[in-house]
Amino acid sequence: MRVQLTIFNSSMEVFKTVKSLQQKLSSIGQGKSVGLVPTMGALHEGHLSIVRRAKKENDFVVVSIFVNPTQFNNKEDLINYPNTLIPDLKALELLQCDFVFTPSVKEVYQQDPNTENFDFEGLDEVMEGKFRTNHFNGVATIVKKLFLITNPDKAYFGEKDFQQLLIIKKMVAQEKLPIEIVPCEIFREKDGLAMSSRNVRLTAEQRTAAPEIYRTLLKSKKLFQNQDLVSIKNFVKNEFIQNKELELEYFEIADTEVLISSNEIKPNKKYQAFIAVFAGQVRLIDNIALN
Ligand code: PAF
Repeated sequence: MRVQLTIFNSSMEVFKTVKSLQQKLSSIGQGKSVGLVPTMGALHEGHLSIVRRAKKENDFVVVSIFVNPTQFNNKEDLINYPNTLIPDLKALELLQCDFVFTPSVKEVYQQDPNTENFDFEGLDEVMEGKFRTNHFNGVATIVKKLFLITNPDKAYFGEKDFQQLLIIKKMVAQEKLPIEIVPCEIFREKDGLAMSSRNVRLTAEQRTAAPEIYRTLLKSKKLFQNQDLVSIKNFVKNEFIQNKELELEYFEIADTEVLISSNEIKPNKKYQAFIAVFAGQVRLIDNIALN
């Protein structure tokens, strides 16, 4: 099914079925490049900046909006995931996005609602993977499906989900898909809070407290210059013990390429700090390059 939007008199087209999207993509002409921006909707300025970039770098841009059930380890989180389809479509239309893909769960998964089992060579065993069972198999399953449906030249992913980005790169290499994965820097609110679709679920008190997450990352980056990793980790733990609104789930310092967490700084290695924090039921993540 194809829907032509006329909200702003633009030519953005919205597709609900794989067949109609593929028909369209096969009609755009050979040699035209396609950029894919996969999203779960509830679009914020971070997403929109990625779409603007994709527009500059490709002849056509497809944005997918699909809340993928197989990557949610927590049912409540899935149920409460914000759905803002109409404003999302309006925002995309203003950017003159070419195609939007908003399939149903049935359309994407057909008769098989299961995840594929990938071997991410350990990348999925730490941090998000450790705390969210099967999450990355769910992510890679949907992203692979979206890649096979749209066959893009480039696909864009935010660095806020840094571990997801590495996992997608690994999947693309293993599956030998000819797609360039483009990492996009984290977009932040003025007070430093990383933009996330989940931020709208924060209460006023939680929203006021939340910038502490980035402030702690900045402090740990500073400490990284002259302190050992155990002291930095202890510092972060203590910062959150005193916080009434935010509960630390994990803070890790890991090798930027293989995500092996470390208690010791090795020369010539790049390190990244990763954090996950609960504000009530809302789970927020962030990360920062340390060197
Ligand atoms: O980062 C996200 O929003 C999702 O994990 C993605 C990549 C769209 C897959 O559902």
